[in-house]
Amino acid sequence: MFSPFFRWFLFFVLSSKILEALYEQESQATHHPDLRQDVFVKDEYHFLNVPGIRTITVYDAFDCTFECLNNPSCFSLNLAASKRTDGTLWCEVLTSNNYINPDEYHENKTSHHFSLKGRFRPISCVEYGQQGAYKDGIYKIYDNDGNSFPAYCDLKSEPGIAWTLVMSWSRKNRLLPAFRKAVLQINAPENETSPNWDRYRLRLERMRSLQVHSTHWRATCCYPTHGIDYRDYLRGNFKDFNIVDFLGDGKCKRVEYVDIRGHNGTNLTALFWQKKNAWMLHIISSSDRCKFSASVGAVGSEDNFGFYGEINQKFRCTQAVNSTTQWWFGAHLKK
Ligand SMILES: *[C@@H]1O[C@H](CO)[C@@H](O)[C@H](O)[C@H]1NC(C)=O
Ligand SMILES: *[C@@H]1O[C@H](CO)[C@@H](O)[C@H](O)[C@H]1NC(C)=O
Ligand SMILES: *[C@@H]1O[C@H](CO)[C@@H](O)[C@H](O)[C@H]1NC(C)=O
Ligand SMILES: *[C@@H]1O[C@H](CO)[C@@H](O)[C@H](O)[C@H]1NC(C)=O
Ligand SMILES: *[C@@H]1O[C@H](CO)[C@@H](O)[C@H](O)[C@H]1NC(C)=O
Repeated sequence: MFSPFFRWFLFFVLSSKILEALYEQESQATHHPDLRQDVFVKDEYHFLNVPGIRTITVYDAFDCTFECLNNPSCFSLNLAASKRTDGTLWCEVLTSNNYINPDEYHENKTSHHFSLKGRFRPISCVEYGQQGAYKDGIYKIYDNDGNSFPAYCDLKSEPGIAWTLVMSWSRKNRLLPAFRKAVLQINAPENETSPNWDRYRLRLERMRSLQVHSTHWRATCCYPTHGIDYRDYLRGNFKDFNIVDFLGDGKCKRVEYVDIRGHNGTNLTALFWQKKNAWMLHIISSSDRCKFSASVGAVGSEDNFGFYGEINQKFRCTQAVNSTTQWWFGAHLKK
């Protein structure tokens, strides 16, 4: 009858209302355990091995979930699988969940795990970084329509910044429209439910939803093999240069850092191009029209970080057929 999202919303609103009522009546109100069960996802015989906010002694699952709902920092809990001789259970209220710390989540004979639905709704990799996730990999994030999708998060290459992958392709796929002529403001998804380095681009709404929650953008070359060493690397911020909405035939636009073939610069302009049905976003480094200069060693009309009509094998993104280019959106984590 209702969509899963609306059901969740309804349960959440109802349970907060019930909580308010419980609060006002000093815990004397009627319990609604059935309702409460829909707020939590229960995984029997699982244990999330992260430090808890607190460990308390309870008589049943209800008391433990109640404690979690009352604590705004609680995302999930561990609860003893069996009672002590005095009929009590230990209950651990946690600030993390099995999505944030998947590696710390294990089957366990002595514990059940309950994860609170809805309280943690990551909209980008930033929320994972903010909650202490530190491993690179695929995480579940939500778009503006409330649908979840897998996204690749880089949480460690640049400490204090979390990056979400928006597209990645290898040189051999450079002629596909999504990587050659589809400007960023065009919807041109590729394999968007399976993030990979060879052929991947998010649909426009998801890019937009990430853009809204990001302050910075970045392009990298061969990230899976080279990581981040600032060679053949590009970073800018959306305030100075909104790459999604930009269209232009060779405009000097401000970047925070750029390196092409070892030529590099900080806080200066570089020459950008992006034209509907013609060229996706890229730099041309053979020209010295803007402050950043990499024309020494360039090939004629050399394209960098996209489009790739003219390629230079000295530029890491286009070195070999299996070399890859990535674009990312990201933001600094709050201290
Ligand atoms: C199982 O859970 C207990 C707490 O009940 C914990 O102390 C123990 O480390 C866990 N074992 C594993 C293998 O995760
Ligand atoms: C990406 O999409 C193409 C075409 O639909 C398909 O052939 C390829 O296997 C996909 N790659 C991955 C990693 O999903
Ligand atoms: C940046 O440029 C300097 C010379 O201007 C060079 O020594 C350095 O290796 C370059 N950095 C990278 C990451 O390529
Ligand atoms: C570049 O500009 C940013 C602010 O836009 C500033 O924080 C940073 O220190 C500058 N870097 C250099 C090397 O000037
Ligand atoms: C491309 O393939 C070659 C040979 O298989 C390998 O040595 C190299 O690391 C690969 N490069 C990338 C960027 O994956």
